[in-house]
Amino acid sequence: MDSPLGGAACPLQVERLGFAWPNGHAALRHCSLRIPHPGLWMLVGSNGSGKSTLLRLIAGLLEPRTGRIAVPGRTALVFQNPDHQLLLPSCGSDLLLAIDPGLERQARERRVEQVLESVGLAGLASRPIHSLSGGQKQRLAIAAALASEADLLLLDEPTALLDPDSQREVLELIRQLTASAGGGITALWITHRLEELQHCEGAAVMEDGHVGPWESGAAVAQRLNRPA
Ligand SMILES: Nc1ncnc2c1ncn2[C@@H]1O[C@H](COP(=O)(O)OP(=O)(O)OP(=O)(O)O)[C@@H](O)[C@H]1O
Ligand SMILES: [Mg+2]
Repeated sequence: MDSPLGGAACPLQVERLGFAWPNGHAALRHCSLRIPHPGLWMLVGSNGSGKSTLLRLIAGLLEPRTGRIAVPGRTALVFQNPDHQLLLPSCGSDLLLAIDPGLERQARERRVEQVLESVGLAGLASRPIHSLSGGQKQRLAIAAALASEADLLLLDEPTALLDPDSQREVLELIRQLTASAGGGITALWITHRLEELQHCEGAAVMEDGHVGPWESGAAVAQRLNRPA
C-alpha cells in the first residue's frame, strides 16, 4: 500500500512490516493491512503464516524490524486460552487491574459493573474465576480489554478451545460490541473456523508473512473449503 500514514484516522494501518525472530526466521515480509472502519474483521491462514506474530507486533509486544504501524487508539490482546491472561482470583479483582488506577474507587467499581454487564456477566464481580465456564472466562477476558478502554481488540483464535455454544456466544458478543451502534470498537479476529467468516465485515488470508486483500467472509470460506 502506498498511501502515507496519517490523514483520515482508520482503526489500524500496517505498512510493509518486516519482522524476523532472533534465529533469523522471517515471520513477516512486506506485510500491509489497513482496516478502513470499525467493525469485525477476520484473518485466516495456515499454521505458521505469521498471524499471531502480526497481532503481537500491533499490540506493541514485539518491535518491527522494518515498516510502520499506526493505531490511533488503544489495543488489547485476547488470547486463545483465557487462563493465560486472567490473573487474580475473582472477576472484579481481575478487571480492576485493567482500569485506570487514577480513577477514584467508586468510579472504578462502577466501571467493573459496567464492563461485566456489557459482556453478559452482570453481578459476577465477586465470583471466583475458577468457577466460570470456558466461554464466561473468555467473555471476562474481553471485559478486561474493554475496561482498559481499548478500541482495537486483537483476538487470537478466541473460540478455539470453546464448545459450540460458547463459541457462538463469544462471536455474538464481539459482533454486538463492534456493531456500528456499539461505539466504534474494532476487532481483528484470527480464526481457523471457516464458519465464523460468515459474520465479519471483511476477511483476509495470511500466507507466508503477508496479508492478502479484504474479501467477503463468504468468498474466503468458499475458496478455502474447496480442495486444492
Ligand atoms: N518465539 C519464537 N521464536 C522463533 N520463531 C517463532 C517464535 N514464535 C513463532 N515463531 C515462528 O514464526 C512463524 C510465524 O508464527 P506464528 O505463531 O505467528 O504463526 P500463526 O500464523 O499464528 O500460526 P498458527 O495458526 O499455528 O497459530 C512460524 O514459523 C513460527 O515457527
Ligand atoms: Mg497463532
